[in-house]
Amino acid sequence: METRSHRYDRYRKALAGEALPVALVDLDAVDANVDAVASLVRDSGKTLRIGTKSVRSVDLVRHILHRGGPSFRGLMAYAPAEARFLAAQGFDDILVAYPTAQPADARLLAEVNREGKRVSIAVEEPIHLDILEAAAATHETRIPVVVDIDVSLRRLGGRLHLGVRRSPLHEARAVADFAERVASSHHLEFAGLLGYEAHIAGTPDQTPLGPLPPGAKRAFKRIACAAVTTLRAEITAEFERRRLPIPLFNGGGTGSAASSLRDASLTEITVGSGFLGSHLFDHYDDFRPEPAAFFALQVTRRPAPGFVTCQGGGLIASGAAGPDRLPMPYLPEGLSLLDLEGAGEVQTPLAVPPHVNLAPGDPVFFRHAKSGELATFFRDYLLVRGDHVESRALTYRGAGECFH
Ligand SMILES: Cc1ncc(COP(=O)(O)O)c(C=O)c1O
Repeated sequence: METRSHRYDRYRKALAGEALPVALVDLDAVDANVDAVASLVRDSGKTLRIGTKSVRSVDLVRHILHRGGPSFRGLMAYAPAEARFLAAQGFDDILVAYPTAQPADARLLAEVNREGKRVSIAVEEPIHLDILEAAAATHETRIPVVVDIDVSLRRLGGRLHLGVRRSPLHEARAVADFAERVASSHHLEFAGLLGYEAHIAGTPDQTPLGPLPPGAKRAFKRIACAAVTTLRAEITAEFERRRLPIPLFNGGGTGSAASSLRDASLTEITVGSGFLGSHLFDHYDDFRPEPAAFFALQVTRRPAPGFVTCQGGGLIASGAAGPDRLPMPYLPEGLSLLDLEGAGEVQTPLAVPPHVNLAPGDPVFFRHAKSGELATFFRDYLLVRGDHVESRALTYRGAGECFH
């Protein structure tokens, strides 16, 4: 296992002569993550769909897909415009995992399917279907539709809802009724089911849950996992009863990869963040990705003994705002953000322990809380192998694209 100080020296050498700030991706670490995920998936009989929102670079997605081998199949995109962009880059079998209510998006999906690419979209309301059907009819094509299911933990008849708010479909018969509605359409194709257990994947094992200790969290996750497995099995049984085949059943994410792979109902899982290893995934029991993506800022000031200030800052992650959304000063080891200024804005002050020497011009390496969002701040990733920059990968931003 490489020490942090060795890693600092390696990245520092790789970046010699580069103008900071930059984003860098350690390709050896990415490959280690891809190999670890691939070995989990290999014996499961399932396939893996890459979650592109957690990468946001075509070159890197291609690298991961290629290295992952035959069990890595298809992409999970986050917007129809992104799916069209990815299809134009040569990718196929793209599932847009979030619905749209805009005719303009439906038109993109109709066009790209008519051109011969397979791009499906997850939906759950009749209004979504009406919009997709109209676009598909106009373009004389069919749009593949995946039905999105709420697999949150529900108790007390739904009054207690522990999980994210996505789809209103959470009961086997309602899911099957909706799928039959899709299957009966001339312009839509029933392409499968999506039931993402965000409440499990988004709950680290080793950190406390508010005032509750990690043990309470693990207990919650055990109960939630059993409930998701039961719900998916009920849905599968209902579809069997109606003789309606389920072409794919997608679930899981980096934070639930191991338990999702054990669920017999799923045919595939999604992983995105696990390849770049953002710091929100540092505290899981089953799979802890190697940190692989960083941004480097230059030290510009020494305001007082025990402090440095770096040029650049911000880069706070999305989601419920809290300290876990801040970037983490990573190298050299021991630095910390200041409570008063947090992740900074155009400059970031840091507290420096006595054993660390930093002078103006030195780089400091940070990790973002979320893998894909780092790409929205930089035009490219410097791809580092060992102690040198091997190549550069354009981010979506660098490719002139911006998807929401
Ligand atoms: C539908 C869906 N599947 C899977 C994931 C997991 O992605 P990741 O592996 O990047 O955590 C997400 C993330 O939000 C998602 O929305």
